[in-house]
Amino acid sequence: MRILITAGPTREAIDPVRFLSNRSSGKMGYALARVAVRRGHVVTLISGPVALRPPPKVSFVAVTTADEMLAAVKRYLSQCDALIMAAAVADWRPRRVSAQKIKKATGYRLLCLEPTPDILKQLRSKKGRRVFIGFAAETERLLTGARRKLAEKGLDLVVANDVSRRDAGFEVDTNRVTLLEAGGGVRVLPLMTKMKVAARILDWLEAPARRGCASGAAGGRVGA
Ligand code: C5P
Repeated sequence: MRILITAGPTREAIDPVRFLSNRSSGKMGYALARVAVRRGHVVTLISGPVALRPPPKVSFVAVTTADEMLAAVKRYLSQCDALIMAAAVADWRPRRVSAQKIKKATGYRLLCLEPTPDILKQLRSKKGRRVFIGFAAETERLLTGARRKLAEKGLDLVVANDVSRRDAGFEVDTNRVTLLEAGGGVRVLPLMTKMKVAARILDWLEAPARRGCASGAAGGRVGA
């Protein structure tokens, strides 16, 4: 299959030296790219700023902001059979970016924030027969939030991730996730390495039902 994967955080500038971002390390998305390439898939990895080297044999696209990630996903979507949005896109950005470094001042400073574009929502109408997989990082009511994202973003699978635990989610090498399918199926996975989680997500994607669904999404060039 031709798989488009996003990874890492985005950075939203406040001024030339400061930005808003989050704790995403990119490890989950990079693990997905590494395992997918090993299995013979053709992988494009769109990544926000992280401290990881792109895996070998991956087409790599570096981005910084949510807008840049949206533009890159739009550009490569038509060439893929499946989109895995593992990136932790920043939810807000400063409404105005200061051209000069904002001077330090004592006391409080208010930042006016606006929402960034929701990439999955924007691409929903262009999904066609492609398989869309998203992540839901939550610190409370994990499955409720994940089910809402599955419906709102028109996903085929959501990987629900309790990021309040120290051994799962952001920055660490292990993860504990639950896979929720659009059809209602639920798979609770135990704590495992992100490479193993990646393998389980790809097992799901490679199932005959999904391969049939995605075939033709990118001009019928499906085949691992
Ligand atoms: O809405 P929330 O950020 O919790 O949803 C998480 C899922 O949506 C992830 O798959 C993430 O990559 C994707 N997302 C997106 N565009 C955003 C924010 C998140 O596509 N602006």
